[in-house]
Amino acid sequence: MASSYILVLTLAFASVYASPVPEPLLSQLSNTSFGPVPGQSSLFSTYNGTAPPFPANITGAIVNTTMGPPGPDDLLFQNLLAAEWIIFSFYQQGVELYNTTAFVNAGWSNTTYQGLVQIRDNEAGHLRIFQDQISTNSIKPGPCRYKYPFDSPSTYLAQQTLIEVASMAFITGLELQAKLPVSRSALVAIAATESRHNTWSLINNWKSTPFAGPSDTVYPYANEILDYTNEWVIPGSCPPENPIFPTPRQSLPQMSPATGTTSVEPGSKLVLNFTRTPDFKQGTQYFAVFFHALFNMSAPFNTTNLSTVIPQEIEALGITIVVIADKEGAPTKQNVIAGPLVLPESPVALAMASQ
Ligand SMILES: *[C@@H]1O[C@H](CO)[C@@H](O)[C@H](O)[C@H]1NC(C)=O
Ligand SMILES: *[C@@H]1O[C@H](CO)[C@@H](O)[C@H](O)[C@H]1NC(C)=O
Ligand SMILES: *[C@@H]1O[C@H](CO)[C@@H](O)[C@H](O)[C@H]1NC(C)=O
Ligand SMILES: *[C@@H]1O[C@H](CO)[C@@H](O)[C@H](O)[C@H]1NC(C)=O
Ligand SMILES: *[C@@H]1O[C@H](CO)[C@@H](O)[C@H](O)[C@H]1NC(C)=O
Ligand SMILES: *[C@@H]1O[C@H](CO)[C@@H](O)[C@H](O)[C@H]1NC(C)=O
Ligand SMILES: *[C@@H]1O[C@H](CO)[C@@H](O)[C@H](O)[C@H]1NC(C)=O
Ligand SMILES: *[C@@H]1O[C@H](CO)[C@@H](O)[C@H](O)[C@H]1NC(C)=O
Ligand SMILES: *[C@@H]1O[C@H](CO)[C@@H](O)[C@H](O)[C@H]1NC(C)=O
Ligand SMILES: *[C@@H]1O[C@H](CO)[C@@H](O)[C@H](O)[C@H]1NC(C)=O
Repeated sequence: MASSYILVLTLAFASVYASPVPEPLLSQLSNTSFGPVPGQSSLFSTYNGTAPPFPANITGAIVNTTMGPPGPDDLLFQNLLAAEWIIFSFYQQGVELYNTTAFVNAGWSNTTYQGLVQIRDNEAGHLRIFQDQISTNSIKPGPCRYKYPFDSPSTYLAQQTLIEVASMAFITGLELQAKLPVSRSALVAIAATESRHNTWSLINNWKSTPFAGPSDTVYPYANEILDYTNEWVIPGSCPPENPIFPTPRQSLPQMSPATGTTSVEPGSKLVLNFTRTPDFKQGTQYFAVFFHALFNMSAPFNTTNLSTVIPQEIEALGITIVVIADKEGAPTKQNVIAGPLVLPESPVALAMASQ
């Protein structure tokens, strides 16, 4: 996504969070009954202020208040909470930088800004839900500072849609890591909310079909998508107590369609640009593995001209996730040597805006 944007990177550092808060306030956050409760408070649905809503008005990592083994899904929710800070902050920056007029002047609807404000509120609720899912034996990561590749209301909306579709893909992947059934149902409930955000944007903003075909795309190695979002984290800006994000982290090279790409439709030739050249071994056949709906398809990847062909069979709806692998089908995460790259297939306007 980020690296696939042909955009001038005017970096938006906006988010003015509350000034550092005293430790007692932070530790109160480890009490799940403290403060507004998601699903009980309208704060997480209809708060329309510019300032960050609870719990984002209290920053810093929440340290463990008890000692003992981590809860079975603590690691999963630590990764997800760190990712949620990236998503929440994207919305918070948009809410602070723009207003209704900014979107109308850029040709978007007069309800676009209000919708973004409400999604921001939902995302604040996700922060609190994920904090609550982590046991008091484990650290609950706090926000870092972030810069995103948008420089206008229009590029902001393109990235917003991509973030929502990508979050569907990593939440379905996280289902595979969840140990507790109750964690799985929580993930489905959150994914359904992200899907509504995405649907709203496709209908209200892009005036396109909200449908992605019979199934959204599942990508099994969720941490690789989370790792990709590290591109937006300002190095060195995270609270020192935060665990490494994500854990475990492969730190793979990222990739984007090369300059001059005019189409990412199935059947198109795809030339890739890497953030750093993967360690291609002489004599190994590499594959571009395309994940779409519930299947994947592999196509040979030529390491000399860095090109492949997007399989014709893929339906041009929703998204396709591409990785480079040293084995057909990338049967283990260790087979993945670069990526993932999210290719939006629809609407065409979004696919073009995000290349
Ligand atoms: C947790 O917060 C609730 C609501 O503010 C409060 O009634 C309760 O006493 C707190 N529990 C602890 C252990 O501080
Ligand atoms: C924001 O919410 C408050 C309280 O619900 C309401 O009085 C106000 O009109 C709202 N402002 C906007 C711009 O919607
Ligand atoms: C954060 O928001 C909550 C709920 O709106 C409020 O009660 C609390 O005072 C705020 N805390 C800070 C430090 O701003
Ligand atoms: C938090 O966890 C660490 C590491 O397990 C432990 O050393 C520390 O005592 C814990 N803190 C509290 C308040 O129990
Ligand atoms: C929106 O922001 C612009 C630029 O900051 C400002 O001039 C305008 O008054 C704002 N409009 C509204 C409705 O708040
Ligand atoms: C938005 O625009 C529509 C159609 O132009 C208009 O009917 C409506 O009153 C506007 N709503 C707001 C909140 O400005
Ligand atoms: C690859 O990406 C870099 C960094 O964004 C850019 O400067 C370069 O022009 C791109 N090259 C191609 C062939 O796309
Ligand atoms: C890769 O592309 C180069 C340049 O077109 C070509 O010379 C080479 O034969 C290709 N390699 C394979 C394995 O197809
Ligand atoms: C790369 O090489 C392959 C194999 O020689 C060829 O089929 C393909 O068209 C080449 N791609 C580009 C972008 O030149
Ligand atoms: C890709 O598809 C193949 C064939 O169905 C399967 O064996 C492989 O496990 C799939 N890869 C992943 C990462 O799910």
